[in-house]
This record gives sequence, structure tokens and C-alpha cells, in this order.
Amino acid sequence: MDNKTFIIFYGPPGSGKGTQVKLLAQRLQLPAISTGDLLRSEIKDQTELGKRVEAILASGGLVSDEIVQELIIKQLEGERTAKGAIFDGFPRRLSQQEFLLEQLGRVGGEAKIIPILIDVDDEEVVKRISGRRVCSCGAVFHIPNNPPKTDGICDVCGQDLVMRDDDKPEVIRQRLKAYHGEINPMLAYWQGTGQLVTVDGGQDIPLVDKELMEKLKGIL
Ligand code: AP5
Repeated sequence: MDNKTFIIFYGPPGSGKGTQVKLLAQRLQLPAISTGDLLRSEIKDQTELGKRVEAILASGGLVSDEIVQELIIKQLEGERTAKGAIFDGFPRRLSQQEFLLEQLGRVGGEAKIIPILIDVDDEEVVKRISGRRVCSCGAVFHIPNNPPKTDGICDVCGQDLVMRDDDKPEVIRQRLKAYHGEINPMLAYWQGTGQLVTVDGGQDIPLVDKELMEKLKGIL
């Protein structure tokens, strides 16, 4: 991978974006930028921004473009993204996608941009999200697909695992509604350029990773 490379992950909530982004980020030595993680960290620290967005995340709605775009600008500043980055959960609306492409044109020069869709149906998403357990250190597990070694305890740091506040069934439905309401125009753009890489996210984690790496051969 010689050129500066930006990879953008699309997919419904619970499709495995975060899981695959972590694997790919480690392999390619690129930083992962997750707007969901950035917002949750603001909420955990009870910053002004965190207080403003807490109720929106809890309801499954989308935060305003201004807020997430400001977070993205900060992430793109400085040396950390000198070789590129992998985006998880951004963009989520066509307006955010247009903003991101403009920013990448500015910071990336001749950068390569690779859009990836993790394709999973809503029924599987609900199963995935109901089994998700997270740690405040950022580690994510799944009962029974990707369980921790000790029940309820994080393998990485030993803290207790919890469910995310927005993983309740009624909030999952709202998050899926927000996803389906916004995704088509974004994907239509990439289908038009012929660049969209689609992987079957309904498979086990290592198989999704394998299919993704095979499809990225020759593109990276
Ligand atoms: P965000 O944190 O981005 O949530 P999301 O997109 O809804 O995605 P998730 O984190 O729920 O799922 P994922 O696809 O990463 O799946 P994971 O790998 O964890 O956003 C949260 C909220 O923040 C939004 O609702 C919104 O309010 C706000 N927000 C964020 N970005 C925004 C933006 N740009 N604009 C406006 N608002 C924004 O996997 C799920 C589970 O399944 C895990 O337990 C995992 O272990 C397991 N799993 C993963 N892959 C597999 C597999 N292949 N087989 C079986 N199990 C699997």
C-alpha cells in the first residue's frame, strides 16, 4: 500500500463494521475513526458536547452533521492520518459523504478512497446487537459468537462487560430506520463510480475478514 489510503465502511448497525475495521486497521497499520466511539467517549467524560448528544444516541437518532463533522476535522488534522484512515460510522448521510469527500480531497491529495459495504439483513442485525457486550476500554464481544474467556469479564483489561445503552430492542429498531432512511443515495454514488466493494457480512467474523481481504487484493 504505497498511496495514502482512506477506507470508508458502510453497513447497518450491528453488521460488524467496528469488528472488521479493527482487524483491517491493525493489518494495514491505519488509524480507525469511529464517530460512534468518539461520541460515546464525549458522553462518558460528560463534556458539553457529550451532554448535548446523550439523549440522541439513547433514542437511536442521528446527531447533527455539524457535531460529527467537527469531530472528523479534528481527527484528520495532524500526523496520525498521514498515511490515511479507516472510517467506521461516518458518513451516515449524503451531506456527510459530500463533506468527507471534500475533506479527503483537501487532506489527501491523490489519496485512494475505498468504500466497503458490509451487507447483513435486519433479522441478523437484531441478533448480533442483542448479544453484544462491550467494555469501557473499547473491546467488543458477542454471546455466543465471540465470547470473552471469562463470562462477563473483558479479556483485554479485566473490567466488567456491559450492554450498550442503545442496544435495547426499541432503540435498535429506530437505528435501523435511521440507516435505511439514509443509506441508498450514498451507495448509489459509489455504484455510479463502480468502486463499491460489497462483502457478505452474514458469515462468521473470520470469513467476512477473508472475503474482504480477497476483494481488496489489487485495490490496496
Ligand atoms: P455507532 O457506534 O457507529 O453504531 P452503529 O453504526 O449503529 O454500529 P454498531 O456499533 O452498533 O455496530 P457495528 O456495525 O460496528 O457492529 P460490531 O462490530 O459492534 O453509532 C452509534 C450512534 O452514534 C448512532 O445511532 C448515532 O446516534 C450516533 N452517530 C454515530 N455516527 C454518526 C454520524 N456519522 N452522524 C450522526 N450520528 C452518528 O458488531 C456487532 C456485534 O456482533 C458485536 O457483538 C460483534 O462481536 C458481533 N459480530 C460482529 N461481526 C460478526 C459476525 N460476522 N458474525 C457474528 N457476530 C458478529
